[in-house]
Amino acid sequence: MHRKKTKEITALIIAAADKARRQSGWTADAKVGKAVNWPVECTVGPGLEGAIACESKVGYVDGSKGALSYRGYDIFDLCAHSCFEEVSYLLLRGSLPTKPQLAAYRRRLNDCLNIPSTLRHLAGFRIEDMDSMAALRLGTNMMRYEIAELHVEPVSAEKVALIGSDEDSIPMETTPMGSEHAIYEFKKGSSSARNMATGCQLVSGVASLTAAIARLREGKLPIEPDSELSHAGNLLYMMTGHRPSPVEERIMDVSLILHADHGINASTFAAMVVASTLSDVYSSIGAAVGALTGPLHGGANEAVIHMLNGIGSVDNVESWYAKTQRKKERVMGMGHRVYKVYDPRARILGPLAKYLARDNPETKNQYRIATRLEKEVVASLGKKGIFPNVDFYSGMVYNALDIPHELFTPIFAVSRVSGWTARVFEYLRNNRIFRPRVMYNGPVAREYVSIGRRKPRKRG
Ligand code: CMC
Repeated sequence: MHRKKTKEITALIIAAADKARRQSGWTADAKVGKAVNWPVECTVGPGLEGAIACESKVGYVDGSKGALSYRGYDIFDLCAHSCFEEVSYLLLRGSLPTKPQLAAYRRRLNDCLNIPSTLRHLAGFRIEDMDSMAALRLGTNMMRYEIAELHVEPVSAEKVALIGSDEDSIPMETTPMGSEHAIYEFKKGSSSARNMATGCQLVSGVASLTAAIARLREGKLPIEPDSELSHAGNLLYMMTGHRPSPVEERIMDVSLILHADHGINASTFAAMVVASTLSDVYSSIGAAVGALTGPLHGGANEAVIHMLNGIGSVDNVESWYAKTQRKKERVMGMGHRVYKVYDPRARILGPLAKYLARDNPETKNQYRIATRLEKEVVASLGKKGIFPNVDFYSGMVYNALDIPHELFTPIFAVSRVSGWTARVFEYLRNNRIFRPRVMYNGPVAREYVSIGRRKPRKRG
């Protein structure tokens, strides 16, 4: 990563950090970082609001002060001084890498960007007609077989009884590809070397899939990675076919750092729920991709750009917002379950969007609409704790990097897969299947009426 050529980006992040720290007065809370004495009492609202599901050392969100840290390192420091490779290593491994460790991890990530068999299978589908997140879900699940192929020992014909056409209860002549390895992976669980290997395969695999989906959607063939490029650089290169400029590469890198982990949000929770059944890690990540797709979660980044383009001009903001309020509709990219103040990620992405708007008239227009809309929303809903979230400015940044809108949410997944994987492996060390309760509020003791005697239900 060309630090010297991206000094302006570093300065902009440091300025955002200073502003955030000045405004929030954030200092580490002495209660944070202590072990939990189970069972705990907590007030739970619908949607599991307030529920404590487990303990974690992966990351911390302080929603009242707008602070986010990964393994104890402040997000602003990581964005200013680190890179995505270092951050994903930190999340998966628990500590920052040394120079040789980082070099080895980079090589490993680079090797894992090659998933030819999955991409060949993926290219067999009509990806151009498919929702990009559906394609990513498909690819994530298919990756399981590619990776399993690498691990499953070839089975010699002499060692197994061949199957007869009338027998369905004896072993198959070949080991079922994938399942054995995958189940073994979770059963054996906690080998950190194995988890790290799987982590690399997933972090790189989701990036390769996203890039391939971008290419296939345009009727082009996927591109092989360039070992000279960073993870962020390769993502852009493999999507577009052009080597990114140092500024483009750095901005993508910062964005990947910002999205890497965020407590037990819906997609992380989905991954953990699936993993808690001792299913396999690829199904678990596939479930997370599914959860991330929705517009209340990761899908908001794409929804925001459509909203801004729909508003069209800064002059329309006031009337558009008045109409939205009348119809009681939500402003995409605003509000958060945890943050009741400004999202720290938006504090960096906003200035990055402004920086990119300098030379890009389309981004300039979107940025003007967005900042005006932000003012309107905060003036009317700030008292309710509604402020811009991570998705409000990220789409604008990707748009300025010439990334098609349908790829915005997959890019979120390229980053978040590191948090998903880190938290799944952490949870599995003390696994307990997730099983919350539900309060039944339906009718009781109803008499069964045979079908001939049933009357249509009255409406209303
Ligand atoms: N626009 C207008 N009002 C809102 C918004 C919004 N975006 N978000 C929440 N509110 C209001 C909501 O109407 C409710 O008002 P009242 O109490 O008067 O009924 C109050 O704020 C609380 O809303 P809630 O639905 O109970 O809040 P929640 O914690 O369940 O939902 C949220 C959080 C993110 C789903 C919600 O804020 C939202 O829908 N935002 C828009 C979608 C979005 O940007 N999602 C990305 C979230 S951040 C990144 C990620 O997770 O991927």
